[in-house]
Amino acid sequence: MTAPKTKTVRLSNGVKIPILGLGTSHIGGYCHSTVVHALKDCGYRLIDTAARYKCEEAVGKAIRESNVPRKDIFLTTKLWKSELGYKKTIDAFSASLQRLKVEYIDLYLIHWPVCPHGSNNVKSLRAETWKAMEELYKQGLCKAIGVSNFEVSHLRDLEETWDIIPHVNQIEHHIYYRPMELIQYCKDKGICVEGYCPLSQGLALEEPIIQELANKYKKTKSQILIRWNIQNDVVTIPKTTKESRVHENFQVFDFEIHEEDMQRVNSIHKTKMKKLILS
Ligand SMILES: NC(=O)c1ccc[n+]([C@@H]2O[C@H](COP(=O)([O-])OP(=O)(O)OC[C@H]3O[C@@H](n4cnc5c(N)ncnc54)[C@H](OP(=O)(O)O)[C@@H]3O)[C@@H](O)[C@H]2O)c1
Repeated sequence: MTAPKTKTVRLSNGVKIPILGLGTSHIGGYCHSTVVHALKDCGYRLIDTAARYKCEEAVGKAIRESNVPRKDIFLTTKLWKSELGYKKTIDAFSASLQRLKVEYIDLYLIHWPVCPHGSNNVKSLRAETWKAMEELYKQGLCKAIGVSNFEVSHLRDLEETWDIIPHVNQIEHHIYYRPMELIQYCKDKGICVEGYCPLSQGLALEEPIIQELANKYKKTKSQILIRWNIQNDVVTIPKTTKESRVHENFQVFDFEIHEEDMQRVNSIHKTKMKKLILS
């Protein structure tokens, strides 16, 4: 099997992130052989994980087993919301490095803008957390830093104290959910939008237009949905535990969805809005 080369997007600091990666999760399980297969045989170079997913150790092991050089892999992990705060962030980062058994992280993200037990001043807690992220970046321990699930209001708060603008905002993005104001804000600030749940956790596979386009382009429904994300310049991280599907989901660089079909899919969310992930 010849693996196609992944395309990349240049972040505001010049670091290149693959436009397509593999998600992992605690929900729905983690399949070790699929992650190894994705890296070794399918051409994936971006792996998305998080302290919350409890699979960092396994992800680190999969990277080593794949024999893909560390420098060729773009590894993302995230700070869980219970760890907001300057010192807690530094400590949580170090724990992630140890679990993954790596020297650096390519992209470190604040997983959520909120903390689980509430806080009198979550805005200053986020600002403090961001200072720690900036410090980790300045020390070269992460190649890029960013946030996840941040809305415009959270980013505007952060603007007051940030020295470094987040390189990435990882947000829910699929045919039923497209926060256009947030996407525009990120674009204006040079923040790369990375979209999660590109298949709407399977829901979008039932959408009639997607079946129609799959027939038209002689591709699978999943490939249409992933390609649609990519053509909207959204870095995308579909998750699958199945080896056959991990290969299928990467075969999206050999066709293009025409502009009129892009527009049809782009407008689905206006009438069928559905947000899947709530904090
Ligand atoms: N930052 C955050 O707060 C956040 C939140 C949610 C997710 N994420 C990230 O985004 C990733 C993806 O999100 P997600 O897993 O929630 O949703 P998703 O990628 O939209 O959907 C995953 C579901 O689709 C199925 N699937 C995958 N490929 C398929 C194919 N070719 N044909 C049919 N079904 C297919 C998978 O089942 P099988 O496993 O059985 O194939 C799984 O049930 C996560 O793994 C995680 O890395 C981040």
